[in-house]
Amino acid sequence: MAAVAPPLKTAVVTGTASPAGIGRACARAFVRAGYQVLGVDKMRLQDSEPDEALVARYKHTMLDISRPEEAGFVPAACEKNFGSQTVHVLINNAGIADPHMPTQAEAAVQHWRVVIDTNLTGAFLMSLNVLPHMPAGQAAIVHVSATRAHQSEPHTEAYAAAKAGLLGLAHAQAVSLARKVRVNTVLPGWIDTSGDPSSLSAADHAWHPAGRVGRPEDVAQLCLFLADGERAGFITGQEFVVDGGVSKKMVYPEEGEGEAAVGGAAPAPPPPPTSDDERPPVVWPDAPVCLHYSYSSGW
Ligand SMILES: NC(=O)c1ccc[n+]([C@@H]2O[C@H](COP(=O)([O-])OP(=O)(O)OC[C@H]3O[C@@H](n4cnc5c(N)ncnc54)[C@H](O)[C@@H]3O)[C@@H](O)[C@H]2O)c1
Repeated sequence: MAAVAPPLKTAVVTGTASPAGIGRACARAFVRAGYQVLGVDKMRLQDSEPDEALVARYKHTMLDISRPEEAGFVPAACEKNFGSQTVHVLINNAGIADPHMPTQAEAAVQHWRVVIDTNLTGAFLMSLNVLPHMPAGQAAIVHVSATRAHQSEPHTEAYAAAKAGLLGLAHAQAVSLARKVRVNTVLPGWIDTSGDPSSLSAADHAWHPAGRVGRPEDVAQLCLFLADGERAGFITGQEFVVDGGVSKKMVYPEEGEGEAAVGGAAPAPPPPPTSDDERPPVVWPDAPVCLHYSYSSGW
């Protein structure tokens, strides 16, 4: 009698709608590695995936991870598509990827809440709903954070806070779920998700010690490794930067910058506020900030 093939392992990957995004690269990597993949996104697939072998083991579910009642649908979606609610791997990748926030106060508060709800609470909700269906000792969660969890440019507070929050979520979960589920975080740097690598310049690539801008597959391969209990079974609660070495570069001031601070020539007067980095001060509204907003508006 022919041996019965063991059931495929299931990976749930969030944020898979864009064909050139990190989530889609993760979905492809996990399918190629032998998993069946449930993709979760608030958008429908934005293309028709050309690889039929991948399509056969990929199912797409549209839901908003920031809404508890929608995130709670994931186990049922696994059962419907794969005949079982068991989930071996959760890749929490979905998020609002633009880090910049508005400076007008009311809009900033609204932005803060939507970004925290999506980029941080969404990962927590997905974890809560999937955990009861993860086989103890054989399961893994990977949160997709960002190097912006550790370093910033101006006016990115909500995104940075959410991505830093994922680091805390991961080490807390790793301890709470000890011996049951390994939980790690990946921190991508600049990953080209434009779908058009020719839009990158030689200088863009050369800025990276690795010699090139990152690709979605760079993040996907790290997620695949961390999910694999055979290869990464001794790794939990950790952070992994995948940024081509950029965050290890020493940063010096531009020529003339900061001379006054050490008794040198006085700096030139600042230019008028024209760039994003020199916006006028935040103006708070007289009335209390309205905390009601629509999840579907504004992005
Ligand atoms: N591209 C980069 O340079 C980079 C760098 C660091 C971190 N990241 C992180 O990687 C992840 C993927 O980014 P990407 O560049 O592939 O962007 P992307 O916009 O292609 O992917 C994000 C996906 O998340 C989905 N999404 C957003 N909110 C959602 C919600 N509430 N419910 C369900 N789905 C939702 C979007 O529809 C989208 O398909 C993000 O978390 C981003 O912050 C990206």
